[in-house]
Amino acid sequence: MKIVVTSDLHYDIARSVEPTRELADEICALSADALLLLGDAAGRDVGILRDCLHLFDRFAGRKFFVSGNHELWACPGESSLYRLEELVPAVCREADFWPLDIESANMDGVGLVGTVGWYDYSFRSEWLGLPLRFYEHKIAPGAAARIKGFGHLLKQTADIPEDAYSYGARWMDGAYAILGMSDTSFCDYLLERFRGHLASEAARSRKIVVAMHHLPFMELVPTSQDPTFAFASAFMGSELFGRALLAEPKVGYVLCGHSHRAMGVRKEHLICLNVGCTYVQKRYDILEV
Ligand SMILES: [Fe+2]
Ligand SMILES: [Fe+2]
Repeated sequence: MKIVVTSDLHYDIARSVEPTRELADEICALSADALLLLGDAAGRDVGILRDCLHLFDRFAGRKFFVSGNHELWACPGESSLYRLEELVPAVCREADFWPLDIESANMDGVGLVGTVGWYDYSFRSEWLGLPLRFYEHKIAPGAAARIKGFGHLLKQTADIPEDAYSYGARWMDGAYAILGMSDTSFCDYLLERFRGHLASEAARSRKIVVAMHHLPFMELVPTSQDPTFAFASAFMGSELFGRALLAEPKVGYVLCGHSHRAMGVRKEHLICLNVGCTYVQKRYDILEV
C-alpha cells in the first residue's frame, strides 16, 4: 500500500498559497492508495480549510486528516474542543477526508490511527531555567513584561533567571487555543481516545500507521541556542504520546508535522518521519507499507 503524507500547508498564509497549490497538483497526479494531511492546513477560517481540502479532489485514493494546533484556534464564542470534535470533522467529511482524530480507519489490514497530539512541556529546554508558570501561560518573561495582562507572572522574581527578561517569545496558542482545561489535562483527554483507537486497530490490523500533528519524541524536536526557538520546544509535543506508541508493537510508522523541520528517527520498533513543510517550501513523503 502506498501512502502519501504531507503537513503544515498553512493555506491561510499568503506565501503558502502558491506552493500549496503546486504541491496539491503534484499529489493529485500520483498513483497512491491514501493521502494523509497532518494538520495546520489553515487557521481559524474553516472556509479556507475547506478550500485547501478541495485542492485534493482529483486524488484517486482515500483521504485522511488530523487537526493541527492551528485548526484549534477558536473564533470568538467558539471552543477548541468544538472545533476538534465537530466543526473540523464536518468540513473534512464534506470534502471527502476521513477525520482520524475522531475515528480510526483500516485499509487492507493496515490500521490508520491519528491525533492532533498536544504538549505538556516535557520537551521544554531546561537550560532556559524558566519556571513552569511561563509555559502554562505560553509567554516568556520578556514578553510578559511588555504585554498587558501578564504582570502577575513577574511578581515573584527569585526564580526568574536574569537573562530571561530578554526572552520576548510568545506561543500564540496561548491567545487562540481555547481548551477550557490545562494543557496536561488536554493531553490526558486526547491520550485516552488515542490509546482506545490503537487498541481497536491492533485487534484487527497486521500493522498500524500513526498520523500526528505534534511530536511524540524529544529526538524529533529541533534544538536551538536561540531562546525564542528554545522556548518553542516546550510546545512541540509530549513524551506521553511516545510512550503510548512504544507500548503497541503493531505500530510501525509514526508520521508527524508541526515543527516545520524534515526529520527521520528510529525509536525501538518505530520509524518516525516528519515531512517538514515550511511556509514557502511544501513537500510530501511516500510510504510503502
Ligand atoms: Fe505549522
Ligand atoms: Fe502546528
